[in-house]
Amino acid sequence: MLKILVCVSGGGTNLQAIIDGIKAGNITNTEIVGVISNNYGVKSLERAEKAGIPATVLSPKDFADRAQFNEAFLAKVKEINPDLVVLAGFLVRIPEEFVKEYSNRIVNIHPSLIPSFCGVGYYGLKVHEKALERGVKITGATVHFVNEGMDEGPIIAQKPVAVEDGDTPEVLQKRVMEQAEWVILPKAIDDIANGRIEVVNNKVIRKA
Ligand code: GRF
Repeated sequence: MLKILVCVSGGGTNLQAIIDGIKAGNITNTEIVGVISNNYGVKSLERAEKAGIPATVLSPKDFADRAQFNEAFLAKVKEINPDLVVLAGFLVRIPEEFVKEYSNRIVNIHPSLIPSFCGVGYYGLKVHEKALERGVKITGATVHFVNEGMDEGPIIAQKPVAVEDGDTPEVLQKRVMEQAEWVILPKAIDDIANGRIEVVNNKVIRKA
């Protein structure tokens, strides 16, 4: 059984997709053992509570500096002791020490086809604003392992989504979530839980 910790910041629709995926049997051998939110009062916390998952708020604002927040974050993760950490719309830069310790055990969902529209400054709605500004006809989402670089870890799954005339960042964001994020994140977790993938030379390959 793969024990996963899901880190969130806001709406938690990706968290919901994981909860639903487990319930429906589309994600097997997986249990959500905890949720960490860096914001109070967000919908993600309601979703966790409704599903009976223990949730904790750890906000950088409650700590004197980033080092203290990082220490508390690491301590909490260790207490929960997950096999896999899923960053599902988590907007806090996670401690480097944690990334090193949990090498190939942290996954992130990013709302573009990496390496397009990713890296510093590309988060949330901004990703879709930039895609529309550039006029791309195809965008999408990517699930990847997290390494020390920003959005640079081995890619697990990607799914393209069409950009349509008249799209606003909000409309495009919703389409990318519905058509890509809520599909590939649960699938990636199921693949990891069932030992179907491995990382070789910084690339994800399917096991024979
Ligand atoms: C998603 O678009 C995710 O890709 C991005 O932040 C958003 C989070 O949405 N990093 P939600 O909280 O899962 O609804």
